[in-house]
Amino acid sequence: MTDTEETVLLVGGGGREHAIARAVGESENATLYACASNRNPGIAAVAEGSETLEETDPEAVVDCAERVGATLAVVGPEAPLQAGVADALDEAGVYAFGPRAEEARIETDKAFLREFMAENDVPGTPTFETFTDPESAAEFVESAEDDVAVKPRGLTGGKGVRVTGDQVTKAEAADYVRESGYDDWVVEERLVGEEFTVQAFVANGELRVSPAIQDHKRAYEGDEGPNTGGMGSYSDARFELPFMREEDYDEAVSILEALVDALSGYKGILYGQFMLTADGPKVVEFNARFGDPEAMNTLPVLETDLVSVLRAARDGDPLPELTFEARATVCKYAVPAGYPTDPAGGTRVAIDEASAEEAGALLFYASVDAREDGIYTTTSRSFAVVGVADSIREAEELAEAAIDEAGEEGLRVRHDIGTSELLQRRIDHMRELRGE
Ligand code: AMP
Ligand code: GLY
Repeated sequence: MTDTEETVLLVGGGGREHAIARAVGESENATLYACASNRNPGIAAVAEGSETLEETDPEAVVDCAERVGATLAVVGPEAPLQAGVADALDEAGVYAFGPRAEEARIETDKAFLREFMAENDVPGTPTFETFTDPESAAEFVESAEDDVAVKPRGLTGGKGVRVTGDQVTKAEAADYVRESGYDDWVVEERLVGEEFTVQAFVANGELRVSPAIQDHKRAYEGDEGPNTGGMGSYSDARFELPFMREEDYDEAVSILEALVDALSGYKGILYGQFMLTADGPKVVEFNARFGDPEAMNTLPVLETDLVSVLRAARDGDPLPELTFEARATVCKYAVPAGYPTDPAGGTRVAIDEASAEEAGALLFYASVDAREDGIYTTTSRSFAVVGVADSIREAEELAEAAIDEAGEEGLRVRHDIGTSELLQRRIDHMRELRGE
């Protein structure tokens, strides 16, 4: 790595972006500026400067990049990618680590993704049908023999999918398709198994992978309740998770490689969400960015300088081989009471980065309101605590110690994430599916 100083502009203001900000902040040769639609006090504390602007407005972001003299940009969330923020930055001569809107369609257009996977023989594609009117999609669901997942074509913040035989009956799924106001649908085979995520850094046709993570989308303990943006996640001290075999991880990586080969010119993070089924990993979806919460598992154990990866991507140099600390992580989000259906914000957050650290954990702010007399919750996910330790069990204890520090007045946490009981259930589930 050379000693040239980079000026990095970070777009986005959630927990994921706080983790990116901290990783850039740890780089020896980088100055960080941040811009987002919200003000994240954790990001503001590490950045040289931060600005509140419409993060889906390409012109506003380019203006900001030019004003701060950015030499690199990282786009955290999907909405700016869909709006063409990476395209606009690239065109203005500021390399954006994040795909152009066309390539971000792997996330923003689920019908495109499935058709693209099928055309390019990407392994792990479930059977699917696409529809351009709700009535024919609903009739297809009603007459389907097996269970299905129904998905609106576009972005829904992770809350648009319904799975029959799991959350709803086929009749309920058909009603949902008819009533929810979307025209375009994907109806696909219901995948049964355990979900896991693998994220890769991609540029110039190369990819570098990171340890597998399991997110918890359902709102309540025991995987009950509505889907959320993600309530927490864990990773192990090795690349696979306790319910996976090494070859399952390798198969997921081959799927990511096949997609990168098919998508010439993709750059940024490629996030693969897999279902480990009795027949191996199948693709639930791809995202065109780091996961939130998953970035908070990956970046704290990434030993390689993040800015050196971004710089190599920009300069067309080989991407550095990544090294990760052999440590497990457990991330738990604190969300406002009533989230996601009826969230009540306005609670004062009784933990800060220093007190989390005393409890042995990292704190990442997400959607909070920094007022003169303290930091308050809003109606979205508030903050996350992350324990990093030699085992998942120890990392879970550290995350819980930090949650204790925060108190639970006005907040809700999934205490089961990363516990030995939940892990054992995942292991037993996979054994049962594999007939062991
Ligand atoms: P998505 O919005 O694509 O992330 O989907 C949200 C959640 O719906 C996923 O995390 C899965 O739990 C579930 N899901 C999506 N597609 C399928 C599928 N084909 N089979 C079973 N579950 C699915
Ligand atoms: N954790 C799921 C996502 O970021 O989409």
